[in-house]
Amino acid sequence: MSNTAFDNPFTRIPDGHTRLIGVIGHPVSHTLSPALHNPALAWLGLNMRYLAFHVHPAQLETAVRGFAAIGMVGFNATVPHKEALLPLMDWLDPLAQRIGAVNTVSIDPDGTLRGYNTDAYGFIDALQETDTLPQPLDLSSSSVLVLGAGGAARGVVVGLLEAGARQIAVANRTPARAEQLIADLRPCYPQANLTPLPLEADQLPLESCDLLVNTTLLGLQGEEIQVVEMPRLPTTALVYDIVYTPKETPLLRAAKQQGLVTLNGLGMLIHQGSRAFELWTGQKMPVAAVRERLLGLL
Ligand code: ATR
Repeated sequence: MSNTAFDNPFTRIPDGHTRLIGVIGHPVSHTLSPALHNPALAWLGLNMRYLAFHVHPAQLETAVRGFAAIGMVGFNATVPHKEALLPLMDWLDPLAQRIGAVNTVSIDPDGTLRGYNTDAYGFIDALQETDTLPQPLDLSSSSVLVLGAGGAARGVVVGLLEAGARQIAVANRTPARAEQLIADLRPCYPQANLTPLPLEADQLPLESCDLLVNTTLLGLQGEEIQVVEMPRLPTTALVYDIVYTPKETPLLRAAKQQGLVTLNGLGMLIHQGSRAFELWTGQKMPVAAVRERLLGLL
């Protein structure tokens, strides 16, 4: 029998040296992360596997202690575990603390759990990769409007502030949540101009918006975001929706029809994964190859 299949890194059978990484969620079966990480691990010839684990919230601590006990390299977390992981960490990256959520855990050989948040970096890395803008986006002088004030918005706003954005409005259906998000972050970024707003058309500063980011759940099921009156946006505005399924939300479709540059969440997914990959393996993820493969899957 030929050994070709066993020599191929994509089909190599795990052995006694194989190290494990994973993602936990509830639910988790929709995740694209194994499709992102396993080819990258194989391309680099790393004897590691990335698996998805369905972990019920009531079992989170047991699962995490178990991961440390069996010597896993680390894991990602998705809904609803990102906030609940915070108190379980032995060490927290300051950015994860500021965002109030952990999406990446690295486990030291002695079992020490280190919590990070790579979503904020992923969001910014993807934004900085955009080369189709009529003019480069200088965040320090841009006016940014973020729709939504949930967990995802926190990562986005911290990412923007860390990247130098100084003018950010956060508009949310429940205005108190936008106010809370800003009250939490203002002391960390005293030089930034942060404004909470209700999610109402006449309250949104669309005419002066250089970057519009949707972090709400609107669009996931094909809903339009009525309050974003597209013709009011400048022709140079960039419209960024952080979801990647569907690839084109009604918001992005309307922006494209208006001739605006758009960005979906695929780049953010890849780059948050790439930052985590580097934490676990010490190596750069082959991002271009990973993107090509994911585009084929979506
Ligand atoms: P995530 O972690 O994805 O941000 P979340 O914390 O549940 O999830 O936040 C969801 C965001 O989508 C919130 O900003 C939410 O607005 P509220 O804070 O008012 O709930 C927003 N959202 C969800 N459904 C919405 C809808 N039908 N219209 C407007 N905003 C909506």
